[in-house]
Amino acid sequence: MDNMQRVGISVEDGLLKKFDKLIDKQGYANRSEAIRDLIRDRLMREQLEEPASNAIAAIFVVYDHHSTQLTQKLTELQHSQFLKTISSMHIHIGHHDCLEVILLKGKVGEIKKMADRIIALKGVKLGKVNLIATE
Ligand code: NI
Repeated sequence: MDNMQRVGISVEDGLLKKFDKLIDKQGYANRSEAIRDLIRDRLMREQLEEPASNAIAAIFVVYDHHSTQLTQKLTELQHSQFLKTISSMHIHIGHHDCLEVILLKGKVGEIKKMADRIIALKGVKLGKVNLIATE
Protein backbone atom coordinates (compact mmCIF):
# COMPACT_ATOMS: atom_id res chain seq x y z
CA MET A 1 0.00 0.00 0.00
CA ASP A 2 1.16 3.55 -0.73
CA ASN A 3 2.33 5.72 2.12
CA MET A 4 -0.61 7.32 3.87
CA GLN A 5 -0.94 10.91 4.97
CA ARG A 6 -3.41 12.17 7.51
CA VAL A 7 -5.47 15.18 6.43
CA GLY A 8 -8.03 17.18 8.37
CA ILE A 9 -10.99 18.72 6.58
CA SER A 10 -13.79 20.99 7.74
CA VAL A 11 -17.34 20.03 6.83
CA GLU A 12 -20.67 21.57 7.83
CA ASP A 13 -22.75 19.49 10.28
CA GLY A 14 -25.63 18.92 7.89
CA LEU A 15 -23.40 17.86 5.02
CA LEU A 16 -21.42 15.47 7.21
CA LYS A 17 -24.61 13.95 8.59
CA LYS A 18 -25.90 13.26 5.08
CA PHE A 19 -22.53 11.84 4.07
CA ASP A 20 -22.37 9.54 7.10
CA LYS A 21 -25.89 8.32 6.38
CA LEU A 22 -24.98 7.59 2.78
CA ILE A 23 -21.76 5.72 3.50
CA ASP A 24 -23.45 3.76 6.27
CA LYS A 25 -26.09 2.66 3.77
CA GLN A 26 -23.38 1.69 1.33
CA GLY A 27 -21.62 -0.35 3.97
CA TYR A 28 -18.39 1.57 4.39
CA ALA A 29 -16.47 0.68 7.52
CA ASN A 30 -15.25 4.26 7.97
CA ARG A 31 -15.18 7.74 6.45
CA SER A 32 -11.58 7.46 5.31
CA GLU A 33 -12.33 4.57 2.97
CA ALA A 34 -15.40 6.35 1.59
CA ILE A 35 -13.47 9.58 1.00
CA ARG A 36 -10.59 7.72 -0.68
CA ASP A 37 -13.09 6.09 -3.05
CA LEU A 38 -14.67 9.47 -3.81
CA ILE A 39 -11.26 10.93 -4.65
CA ARG A 40 -10.40 7.98 -6.89
CA ASP A 41 -13.74 8.22 -8.63
CA ARG A 42 -13.34 11.97 -9.23
CA LEU A 43 -9.80 11.49 -10.57
CA MET A 44 -10.94 8.70 -12.85
CA ARG A 45 -13.81 10.79 -14.21
CA GLU A 46 -11.31 13.57 -14.92
CA GLN A 47 -9.16 11.08 -16.82
CA LEU A 48 -12.17 9.87 -18.81
CA GLU A 49 -12.72 13.42 -20.06
CA GLU A 50 -9.42 13.09 -21.90
CA PRO A 51 -9.95 11.40 -25.31
CA ALA A 52 -6.36 10.09 -25.40
CA SER A 53 -6.62 8.31 -22.04
CA ASN A 54 -6.61 4.54 -21.89
CA ALA A 55 -9.81 2.86 -20.80
CA ILE A 56 -11.81 -0.31 -20.72
CA ALA A 57 -15.48 -0.12 -21.57
CA ALA A 58 -18.48 -2.36 -21.25
CA ILE A 59 -21.08 -1.63 -23.89
CA PHE A 60 -24.53 -3.08 -23.23
CA VAL A 61 -26.74 -3.40 -26.27
CA VAL A 62 -30.29 -4.69 -26.38
CA TYR A 63 -31.54 -5.47 -29.86
CA ASP A 64 -34.07 -7.45 -31.80
CA HIS A 65 -32.28 -10.39 -33.38
CA HIS A 66 -34.70 -10.25 -36.30
CA SER A 67 -33.14 -6.98 -37.39
CA THR A 68 -31.40 -7.76 -40.63
CA GLN A 69 -27.63 -7.74 -40.60
CA LEU A 70 -27.38 -6.20 -37.15
CA THR A 71 -25.40 -9.11 -35.71
CA GLN A 72 -23.02 -8.95 -38.64
CA LYS A 73 -22.60 -5.19 -38.27
CA LEU A 74 -21.91 -5.57 -34.55
CA THR A 75 -19.17 -8.08 -35.34
CA GLU A 76 -17.69 -5.85 -38.05
CA LEU A 77 -17.53 -2.92 -35.64
CA GLN A 78 -15.77 -5.07 -33.06
CA HIS A 79 -13.00 -5.70 -35.60
CA SER A 80 -12.16 -1.99 -35.65
CA GLN A 81 -8.48 -1.24 -36.02
CA PHE A 82 -8.33 1.24 -33.13
CA LEU A 83 -9.90 -0.86 -30.45
CA LYS A 84 -9.28 -4.24 -28.99
CA THR A 85 -12.37 -6.28 -28.23
CA ILE A 86 -11.53 -8.16 -25.05
CA SER A 87 -14.67 -10.20 -24.94
CA SER A 88 -18.31 -10.22 -25.83
CA MET A 89 -21.23 -12.07 -24.37
CA HIS A 90 -24.59 -12.81 -25.89
CA ILE A 91 -27.68 -13.51 -23.81
CA HIS A 92 -31.17 -14.25 -25.15
CA ILE A 93 -33.42 -12.19 -22.92
CA GLY A 94 -36.77 -12.68 -24.58
CA HIS A 95 -38.65 -13.89 -27.60
CA HIS A 96 -37.14 -11.24 -29.83
CA ASP A 97 -34.58 -9.46 -27.71
CA CYS A 98 -30.94 -10.20 -27.24
CA LEU A 99 -28.43 -8.57 -24.93
CA GLU A 100 -24.86 -8.23 -26.07
CA VAL A 101 -22.17 -7.08 -23.65
CA ILE A 102 -19.02 -6.02 -25.44
CA LEU A 103 -15.80 -5.31 -23.53
CA LEU A 104 -13.47 -2.97 -25.35
CA LYS A 105 -10.00 -1.69 -24.58
CA GLY A 106 -8.59 1.46 -26.14
CA LYS A 107 -8.51 5.24 -26.06
CA VAL A 108 -11.50 7.00 -24.51
CA GLY A 109 -12.20 8.98 -27.69
CA GLU A 110 -12.23 5.88 -29.89
CA ILE A 111 -14.34 3.91 -27.44
CA LYS A 112 -16.95 6.67 -27.31
CA LYS A 113 -17.03 6.91 -31.09
CA MET A 114 -17.49 3.15 -31.38
CA ALA A 115 -20.17 3.09 -28.69
CA ASP A 116 -22.10 5.83 -30.47
CA ARG A 117 -21.92 3.89 -33.74
CA ILE A 118 -23.08 0.66 -32.12
CA ILE A 119 -25.98 2.31 -30.29
CA ALA A 120 -27.04 4.15 -33.46
CA LEU A 121 -27.29 0.90 -35.47
CA LYS A 122 -30.75 0.16 -36.82
CA GLY A 123 -32.46 -2.40 -34.60
CA VAL A 124 -30.67 -1.43 -31.38
CA LYS A 125 -33.33 -0.69 -28.77
CA LEU A 126 -31.13 0.23 -25.84
CA GLY A 127 -27.49 1.02 -25.42
CA LYS A 128 -25.37 1.83 -22.38
CA VAL A 129 -21.67 2.42 -21.97
CA ASN A 130 -19.62 2.09 -18.80
CA LEU A 131 -16.03 3.24 -18.81
CA ILE A 132 -13.17 2.62 -16.42
CA ALA A 133 -9.88 4.43 -16.78
CA THR A 134 -6.74 2.31 -16.87
CA GLU A 135 -3.19 3.54 -16.56
NI1 NI B 1 -30.10 -13.97 -28.79
